[in-house]
Amino acid sequence: SLIVPSVQELAKECNEKLPPRYERPQIEPLVVSGDLDWTVPVIDLQKLASGDESSMDSDSELGNLHSACKDWGFFQVNTTIESTPFKVVNHGVCRTLLEELRVEVENLFQLPYEEKKRKQLWQQPHNHEGFGQLFVVSEEQKLDWNDMFYITTLPRHIRQNELFDKLPHKCRETVEAYSMEMRKLALKILSHMSRALGMDVNEMEDLFTNGVQSIRMNYYPPCPEPNKTIGFTPHSDADALTILYQLNETEGLQIRKDGKWVPIKPLPDAFVVNVGDIMEIVSNGVYRSIEHRAAVNSTRERLSVATFYSCKLDCTLGPARSLVGPRNPPAFQQVPVEDYFKEFFARRLNGKSYLEFMRINVD
Ligand code: SIN
Ligand code: FE2
Repeated sequence: SLIVPSVQELAKECNEKLPPRYERPQIEPLVVSGDLDWTVPVIDLQKLASGDESSMDSDSELGNLHSACKDWGFFQVNTTIESTPFKVVNHGVCRTLLEELRVEVENLFQLPYEEKKRKQLWQQPHNHEGFGQLFVVSEEQKLDWNDMFYITTLPRHIRQNELFDKLPHKCRETVEAYSMEMRKLALKILSHMSRALGMDVNEMEDLFTNGVQSIRMNYYPPCPEPNKTIGFTPHSDADALTILYQLNETEGLQIRKDGKWVPIKPLPDAFVVNVGDIMEIVSNGVYRSIEHRAAVNSTRERLSVATFYSCKLDCTLGPARSLVGPRNPPAFQQVPVEDYFKEFFARRLNGKSYLEFMRINVD
């Protein structure tokens, strides 16, 4: 990544005019939510867990999950998923953790810019982790109206401990605890998905039990000309499953559904979950990663924390063996996961172009 300015600092300086580096020639318009007669599906994980193993009818929760992943690639899950009769206490811990995370992430972004630089929390040349932006490959490239803090959390042996150690103590502890909760949740959802897909359980566990996880915290400051820029460029996620926690009520996330951009209203106490490119590849195209973007506004800041969960590092990525056969030829190439990620981070974000790059052309 190239070194980029802090948008948070820029927002303090420019009250009226957007700096040219953030000005987009064209922003595809949004379909206002009043014109929609549907909302993103909500999945109840507790119902999923207690549901009949095999039932996939339209009124079963597994059936709902399956069609959400096929038709939408996006859904929301309630954070009260842990509140089984024996785990009411856990649910309490979970709420506390989310509240702690909110406070710690807000504090992290509020550290003075000079301190972020001085403590080398800001991205260093040849290292894309820390504060800054990802996918910046040229000085000419337009930038997004956001500052992020990006860090790889799992597996532990690939963590940048120097970066972790520079985080305020309480922040580090909270991120560690949150990372573990997110891993559990991701694995739970992935196992339901593989059940719905009819994927071999051992194959799923082998791919994902020791998966790679990273966390991206996003801060979108108010913007003087919000309609001329974008908070987050349209893209699909490269991972298997993304779990997004929105720290405040400010809207911003939008998905491309049937060719139109539509907003996702944050549900209180819910995570937004989306299928990533790896899951589209593994499911051999049955599940869809969906293009999404983040818009900004002129008055309210927006904060979000995206947790990315992928397959393990030392494997070859491709359609699941248990899902391909003579009648289901593989739709995507096989590629070592490390190469897949190296290539992903060397590119500009651009819709679903990276996934298309992996597709096997049949003509
Ligand atoms: C994204 O991670 O793609 C956008 C996250 C957000 O909604 O802030
Ligand atoms: Fe994303």
